[in-house]
Amino acid sequence: MTGYAKIDRNAPCWCGSGRKYKACHMRFDDKIRSYELKGHIVPDRSIIKTPETIEGIKASAKINMACLDAVAEVIREGMSTEEIDRIVYDTTVKMGGIPAPLHYEGFPKSVCTSINEEVCHGIPDEKHILKSGDIINVDCSTILHGYYSDSSRMFCIGDVSEEKRKLVQVTKECVEIGIEEVVPWHFLGDMADKVHQHAKDNGYTIVREIGGHGCGLEFHEDPFVSYVTPPGTEMLMVPGMVFTIEPMVNMGTHDIYEDADNGWTIYTQDGKPSAQWEVQILVTETGHEVLCW
Ligand code: MF3
Ligand code: CO
Repeated sequence: MTGYAKIDRNAPCWCGSGRKYKACHMRFDDKIRSYELKGHIVPDRSIIKTPETIEGIKASAKINMACLDAVAEVIREGMSTEEIDRIVYDTTVKMGGIPAPLHYEGFPKSVCTSINEEVCHGIPDEKHILKSGDIINVDCSTILHGYYSDSSRMFCIGDVSEEKRKLVQVTKECVEIGIEEVVPWHFLGDMADKVHQHAKDNGYTIVREIGGHGCGLEFHEDPFVSYVTPPGTEMLMVPGMVFTIEPMVNMGTHDIYEDADNGWTIYTQDGKPSAQWEVQILVTETGHEVLCW
């Protein structure tokens, strides 16, 4: 663990506070090391955010949420997903940000729009017209001054069946339950298991291969955040960590496949609907703070 190399007690703290290590993060590091010695996965120093970084993420998140608010105001039957992309691009740029998906590993648009059996990473297109009965995830991510924010919401278009409305609602509840389980010195698996249980209680499955992620100084940082792992496993949650909770909840099988033509869009194997909500959350000394939703 290079991240926890010993620092002299009287040397300046690694966090940049200017205080001596012994008066700043020394006890914090010792506590993390005690979990590591017991065999747990612990966060590297590089993913513990400073107060300055957290302020930067919050400013980025303001733009991200403004984009989703702007989409929420106008999204309707007959609109193309290309129009959603334009709203996100214009709102982001007007507020001084950069859409994080644009050109990210070759992604061609500013936002992901995933309809019905599309699980995630749907590519906006003028040929994709929203119709009554559709459910759509709009997944927005922003860069502002190098700080990343990431969140997504579901929208029901026109007359949506009771069955699909319930999937959207239960998926939202899964995220709300996950948020309450973000507690310092608990494990990501504790949170994951509660999220998974709520999906299972409603007869749904959760995608295994894709999940949440650390986010702030990069788009995708450690840890990978699964929702199908048992309590007491996965990374220890410590104050200063920032990650997303974004379960993809399927009405049928959890199996998925990737679009062979565009190399991005993920679909459910059985063609049944999938829903996803995403928040970006900070672990605090006493619990959590949702930074972006
Ligand atoms: N916003 C997605 C996430 O939640 C990532 C999308 S990557 C993209 O992790 F390139 F498809 F935009
Ligand atoms: Co994300």
